[in-house]
Amino acid sequence: MSSIKVLDKEFEPYISEEAIQNKISELAQQLNQEYAGKRPIFLSILNGSFLFTADLFRQITIEAEVCFIKLASYKGTTSSGNVITAIGLDANVSGRDIIIVEDIIDTGKTLHHFLPQLESSQPKSIKIAVLLNKKEALAYPVKIDYACFDIPNKFVVGYGLDYDGLGRNTRAIYQLK
Ligand code: IMP
Ligand code: MG
Repeated sequence: MSSIKVLDKEFEPYISEEAIQNKISELAQQLNQEYAGKRPIFLSILNGSFLFTADLFRQITIEAEVCFIKLASYKGTTSSGNVITAIGLDANVSGRDIIIVEDIIDTGKTLHHFLPQLESSQPKSIKIAVLLNKKEALAYPVKIDYACFDIPNKFVVGYGLDYDGLGRNTRAIYQLK
């Protein structure tokens, strides 16, 4: 694999397509076991997690639902101040088992702001599944239940993750050089 350029920045190969897909298969198997008979709702947070959600959900073999919301707090390569809800939650989550599906946890701010909103609708349970966990960057008290990869605090793109809207359309993940 070779490096890619997104706008003004160079990114080098970091996590291969194969490694990503292997981890997603493992996570799907685990969720298939833990949520059998519970009809969970996979709550995907747009935009970044659309590919992760698709690949994960495709391997869910139990009864399950999927829905999407849109939250955003990022500008360029750093987290901005505000968390905006651009598309809200339309599903009735009351009494349901919810699995939040996120591409990446950085400071945790996005989810920290969204969780009380979700909790106010009284779901039965909430768990958080992320593809990438920037452990050292966590600045808000958010508990991650499932993480495919723990990664250092460096900016990444690809496989749904963007730099100023670009770079989402790759099968592997790339790290800022
Ligand atoms: P947080 O609110 O600081 O946890 O940021 C979470 C959101 O920021 C993620 O859902 C991503 O959309 C975005 N984000 C965080 N780190 C990166 C990165 O390294 N590359 C691209 N997007 C990122
Ligand atoms: Mg995201």
